Amino acid sequence: MPNISQRGVEMPASPIRKLAPLADAAKQRGVHVYHLNIGQPDLPTPRVALDAIRNIDHTVLEYSPSQGYRSYREKLVGYYKKYDINLTADDIIITTGGSEAVLFAFLSCLNPGDEIIVPEPAYANYMAFAISAGAVIRTVTTTIEEGFSLPKVEKFEELINERTKAILICNPNNPTGYLYTRREMNQIRDIVKKYDLYLFSDEVYREFIYTGSPYISACHLEGIEQNVVLIDSVSKRYSECGIRIGALITKNAEVRSAVMKFCQARLSPPLIGQIAAEASLDASEEYARETYDEYVERRKCLIDGLNRIPGVYSPIPMGAFYTVAKLPVDDADKFCAWCLEEFAYEGQTVMMAPASGFYTTPGLGKNEVRVAYVLKKEDLAKALTVLAKALEAYPGRMV
Ligand SMILES: Cc1ncc(COP(=O)(O)O)c(C=O)c1O
Repeated sequence: MPNISQRGVEMPASPIRKLAPLADAAKQRGVHVYHLNIGQPDLPTPRVALDAIRNIDHTVLEYSPSQGYRSYREKLVGYYKKYDINLTADDIIITTGGSEAVLFAFLSCLNPGDEIIVPEPAYANYMAFAISAGAVIRTVTTTIEEGFSLPKVEKFEELINERTKAILICNPNNPTGYLYTRREMNQIRDIVKKYDLYLFSDEVYREFIYTGSPYISACHLEGIEQNVVLIDSVSKRYSECGIRIGALITKNAEVRSAVMKFCQARLSPPLIGQIAAEASLDASEEYARETYDEYVERRKCLIDGLNRIPGVYSPIPMGAFYTVAKLPVDDADKFCAWCLEEFAYEGQTVMMAPASGFYTTPGLGKNEVRVAYVLKKEDLAKALTVLAKALEAYPGRMV
């Protein structure tokens, strides 16, 4: 039998999904599993989007233009303007989710062996896309003790060499919920400028910022307009993970024309997804406010609840809908598996994502988990009770 590729061997399994078989087995045993592990919003998709799908008046479900429908891209210009991001429709390429935007950014800007610097912990799929493109992720470590703030310039400079081609940030951050300050964004801008790097900026959580702090997009940074590639997605902001619509945005025409060749090869972004995404731009202010208010309350419920459990610590996340929490356990991977395999409290247990999967430096995140707050408040409260009981009963508890 022929061997599978080295790439196929190196491709990491999703740290978020790897416990899924244990969760399935728990459910088979009749245990209720609270999913604190996933980032799929449970709030309703805007009605206008659902209606647009119901009322599709195409006689042929055709390929759309490879860069996406012009009407949608033009309408997006107005959306970005509200965030003080000034674009033309030509700066925007519609992709099959933010995931494809990340992949096409890597494939278009990086040669095999080129290095990307990423603050860790980081969204785990960046690693998978880097492997797909033959690129190498190097990480600067952020720590829970410092609230996951950006490391100093020197930490970046220690990693920079002739193979360094890009910095990748996620802002607000998955998994930490951290929001980069103006000072930190300026620091990134200065490094990008000094070493002439690409700046890939994943801003799919921009709707979810809970403090008064300003949102500084990579597109706001002056002097590096040609270096910035923005990654975006409707998955989170409209609860539309399944329609697979994202965008790659850049003022750099050379990057756009390379990206377009990958877009042409995959022919078309989803047709029905674009119809829903375009309609979503007309979602009411009320929709946005209700969604936002719900996350504000869930965040409070989760973070207060976590910090009340003896030995548990979570910083207060400023954005997105995740936090990385420290648990009093020997090994969070083992603890998360144990919760699913061996523990239940009143017929219930919790599933969390061990944070080790979000770090590339071995050994980091050993006693940390990523917790998502995409459950109703009542369920979050129950899940917190179950977590507290699990930590009391866990044999590998550290005092
Ligand atoms: C930080 C970040 N970027 C990109 C994505 C990809 O989202 P999608 O491909 O659904 O647009 C996700 C999904 O969880 C994410 O958390």
